[in-house]
Amino acid sequence: MTTILKGAKLIKIVTISVSQLIKFFSHILVRLFVATGVLAAGPDTTIVTSTWTLSLLLNSYESLKKAQDELDAHVGKNRWVQESDIKNLVYLQAIVKEALCLYPAGPLAVPHESMEDCTISGYDIPKGTRLLLNIWKIHHDPNIWPNPHEFKPERFLTTHKDVDVKGNHFELIPFGSGRRMCPGISLTLQVVPFVIALLLQGFNIKRPSDEPIDMSEIFGLTVLKASPLEVLLAPRLAPVLYE
Ligand code: HEM
Repeated sequence: MTTILKGAKLIKIVTISVSQLIKFFSHILVRLFVATGVLAAGPDTTIVTSTWTLSLLLNSYESLKKAQDELDAHVGKNRWVQESDIKNLVYLQAIVKEALCLYPAGPLAVPHESMEDCTISGYDIPKGTRLLLNIWKIHHDPNIWPNPHEFKPERFLTTHKDVDVKGNHFELIPFGSGRRMCPGISLTLQVVPFVIALLLQGFNIKRPSDEPIDMSEIFGLTVLKASPLEVLLAPRLAPVLYE
């Protein structure tokens, strides 16, 4: 940790890994996870999605600033953001949707199997066929998503305003759809925006250098970031709020 003098104020600049950062807020996460009785599949996907969301924001300072301005307008700087504030933070919600679209934590869902012979789009599917759904591919289809690799949260406030992640719109299904859909959706949609909101409200966050954040992926059951995310933090609220 280094301490520098900026204007009349002492500012602490901390380089910290995101997993350490999330531990900072772990009391909140543990409370949420214990409340639902799930400690296995949940934290992994949720932390992965939070890390991708923050990485995207660090490569788009304009969006990061917009999200902080929204927090300042709706929550202010005299208290910490609460879970109940999230519904008012529409830009933040658009950011999380965009992150779930670009980096779906479960890119191939879970294997499904047809219970009877059926025909889909002219293809005969015999009973017992294994189906792996490529969610990542659907989310990057240029026929549905203009500039599908670009981070554009605004699309969820304009052109794709009515598209949600709840399994009703097949172009955006990070949690799958139907009877086998992810049961952790509600928890995730509470935890991820809340963690990101806490980080953005509480800290000025920067990349450690001018280089963009490396967004390369490791392919697996969940899509992990190939290199750990490191961020530079400086507090942006009154010291008393960190005690
Ligand atoms: C960013 C967060 C998450 C994403 C993107 C995600 C995504 C998915 C996807 C795509 C599936 C397969 C759905 C299908 O095949 O139609 C799934 C299944 C599942 N998820 Fe999640 N998930 C997330 C968080 C969670 C959390 C927080 C929990 C637990 C609290 C959880 C528990 C499960 C379980 C148990 C299944 C299997 C359901 C079944 O096969 O019947 N997930 N998830």
